[in-house]
Amino acid sequence: MNCQTMQGFLYIFACINVYIAVCNANGKVTGEGEGFCQKTSDGVTCVNHDDLRLTRIDGMQVGNVRTINADGKKLQMKTLNIKPLVFEIEDFLSDDECDHFIETAKQIGLESSHTENQSPKQGLQLMDVNSDKALSLSEMKLTIENGYDIYLDEEDIIQMYKDLKLDSNNDNLITQAEMTISPKQLKTYLSEFVKKHPEKHSRYSRQAWLYPDKSTDTIFRAVQSRVSQVVDLPMDLIRLSDFQVVTYGVKGHYNAHLDSSHIIKDVRCCDRGLYSKCRICRYMTVLFYLNEVKSGGETAFPFANKESIDENKAHIDGVHHLYKNCENATLRVPPKKGKAVIWYNHFIDDDTNWMGEVDEYTLHGGCPVTEGEKWIANFWIKTNNDKSIDLKKMKNLYSK
Ligand code: OGA
Ligand code: FE2
Repeated sequence: MNCQTMQGFLYIFACINVYIAVCNANGKVTGEGEGFCQKTSDGVTCVNHDDLRLTRIDGMQVGNVRTINADGKKLQMKTLNIKPLVFEIEDFLSDDECDHFIETAKQIGLESSHTENQSPKQGLQLMDVNSDKALSLSEMKLTIENGYDIYLDEEDIIQMYKDLKLDSNNDNLITQAEMTISPKQLKTYLSEFVKKHPEKHSRYSRQAWLYPDKSTDTIFRAVQSRVSQVVDLPMDLIRLSDFQVVTYGVKGHYNAHLDSSHIIKDVRCCDRGLYSKCRICRYMTVLFYLNEVKSGGETAFPFANKESIDENKAHIDGVHHLYKNCENATLRVPPKKGKAVIWYNHFIDDDTNWMGEVDEYTLHGGCPVTEGEKWIANFWIKTNNDKSIDLKKMKNLYSK
């Protein structure tokens, strides 16, 4: 019996109080045997987690709509794209819930968003693409993007050469001998520059974290429960993740990035700031639009449906630079108040049935807002590649 049919049957059973087990991508039921899971009004709950698998909902084909009953709300989950797999649910949040997220974030206070690699830790890597021992304008542009996550135009670089007296013969080429400035001095210059031009940052927004587990807020909990029912993952797992509210003004944007990271041996997944050296691990992204944006602010996936990915070439072509090149992105989702966009940053590992490698086609970002403002909430479903770590955390939560 396939997963869809199974659900059809089980909805009927649900009426007589036999609850729905979780279906995974292979159409098997996670709840078989000891790990029995059921959909309740407080999300998916499981008797035992030992047999648990991460789920991956079958998108079928673009345009497919799956109706989900989540605590009295009928949600329509539409497949937007297959490579990468992206869904949208309109009216996932009510207007009041959207307003509540915004108000709460304002009360907490929002601060400027930062990205990971804003200062190179092991010196600056010069991107001499053609190995001619000199940096052209486009190579300097790449060097700065790579090292400082700042996206300059060629005119900005020419101005920088003038200000720093770098290019003595004005040929727009910086040889090793002309590179008389240290990475630290370059950083100081660039920090001053982006203060005047914040839109040159790869991410230009303000944000606040909301921690459902540290608050008694019933709305956050209800939204987590709805997410649990939609993605068929246990509430105990969903409760390990938090909300991040982000706001963009005009020119606000987020250049293309992955929300998660590749597996790096010996580097563990971050855990709410516990470790200084760690990598970000987010199995799924659930992104909520919290307001109506007057113009701009789409979420764009520039690698969507591409035959293959050449990261270096993409960087050289400016594919990541959504502030400038949003129109070229092959999948763009327009914001709409209450809508959720959902995607899988990772595949499932066949051996462990848990989080596998990153899906590089999920590269995405926020296009610039051209009029009005944009508010979103990110809900990143965090898991580890090592299932036992997540099971332990779920158990700890359960025993609290
Ligand atoms: C993010 C993100 C996209 C958007 O915050 O990680 O990708 O549309 N945002 O704002
Ligand atoms: Fe993102």
